[in-house]
Amino acid sequence: MSGKMKAAQIAKPGGDWELVERDIPEPGSGQVRVKVEACGICHSDLFVKEGFWPGLQYPRVPGHEIAGRIDAVGGNVVEWKKGQRVGVGWHGGHCFVCAQCKRGDFAMCVNRKVTGFDFDGGYAEYMIAPAATLAAIPDELLAEEAGPFMCAGVTVYNALRNSGARGGELVAVHGIGGLGHLGVQYARQMGFKTVALGRGKDKEPLAKKLGAHHYIDSDAGDVVAELQKLGGARVILATAPNAKAISTLVDGLSAGGKLLVPAAPNEPLAVSMMSLIAGRRSVAGWYSGTAKDSQDTLEFSALTGVHPMIEKYPLSRVAEAYEQMHSGKVRFRVVLTMGV
Ligand SMILES: NC(=O)c1ccc[n+]([C@@H]2O[C@H](COP(=O)([O-])OP(=O)(O)OC[C@H]3O[C@@H](n4cnc5c(N)ncnc54)[C@H](OP(=O)(O)O)[C@@H]3O)[C@@H](O)[C@H]2O)c1
Ligand SMILES: [Zn+2]
Repeated sequence: MSGKMKAAQIAKPGGDWELVERDIPEPGSGQVRVKVEACGICHSDLFVKEGFWPGLQYPRVPGHEIAGRIDAVGGNVVEWKKGQRVGVGWHGGHCFVCAQCKRGDFAMCVNRKVTGFDFDGGYAEYMIAPAATLAAIPDELLAEEAGPFMCAGVTVYNALRNSGARGGELVAVHGIGGLGHLGVQYARQMGFKTVALGRGKDKEPLAKKLGAHHYIDSDAGDVVAELQKLGGARVILATAPNAKAISTLVDGLSAGGKLLVPAAPNEPLAVSMMSLIAGRRSVAGWYSGTAKDSQDTLEFSALTGVHPMIEKYPLSRVAEAYEQMHSGKVRFRVVLTMGV
């Protein structure tokens, strides 16, 4: 298909948003073209905007919370058809050939690609996606809701379901933003005693509405003491990108508890080994997941009625939309919509 499309790109590290017209790309072998309907703005898009990611090439169109429809299918793609509703997430594919892939450690694939980092993402009317990265969107989910599930959703859903916490145990979610507001809902739906950890009183009613049994305001008191009053957390899911704040949470864990960290602050954490040793506690990172994990996230969300709270902006207002995310004012995910 020949023709032009609108895209929002960053031309150099630290550059401003540029709305450009580009040729509509053609899918190659093993790829599909997605007509993008919505794309969430993830805090990690800051890595592209500011150039904080090794090996980034510019200009780059960010966006890895994509929901749309398959518009063209390249060669050697058998399982996907034109017209199907699909999502594309952060994990932009792995090779199935390297030693890591052979062990099943797809996250560590040496040939791994990241959507919106290593190839152009969803801040555009069309994008090209490897077929292996696609997840089918259930009919009951709107595109603007499915988008945020492709990174924010899958990251926290997948982290929680693999966290080792069991129904009824105390699970805290730190940082009530794009990831965190979904983390609270999933924790509740998975049957955990759910605690939301935010700063400021204003998020309490929202956190409770999302399903939190308890809300702890870090501005108002001692989070660790409050968590220990509740018995200590089996898991704390840390989503606020602040190394200092995350580091202080370790002592809020129960014995054997785990600080599970998808957040990606630039600074290192500072954690006392004595706190870890004395309580057999651990700190672990978490990476979002593969297409199968995204598919599971979409289906679990449709099944249990988990919805992102979103603010929609047309692609043409990308700079304002990004700033709304970056300022922390958004409740809770900014989503770009196309064709408007
Ligand atoms: N591992 C992965 O696969 C993965 C995937 C996606 C994102 N990430 C990373 O996860 C982090 C969160 O992403 P996001 O898209 O959810 O960001 P976001 O929408 O900007 O939300 C972050 C939230 O953290 C809160 N926060 C910041 N400092 C805090 C503190 N000291 N105490 C309590 N809350 C605090 C902010 O709220 P207020 O400012 O209103 O207090 C904000 O709501 C980022 O570092 C991102 O790069 C990782
Ligand atoms: Zn993301």
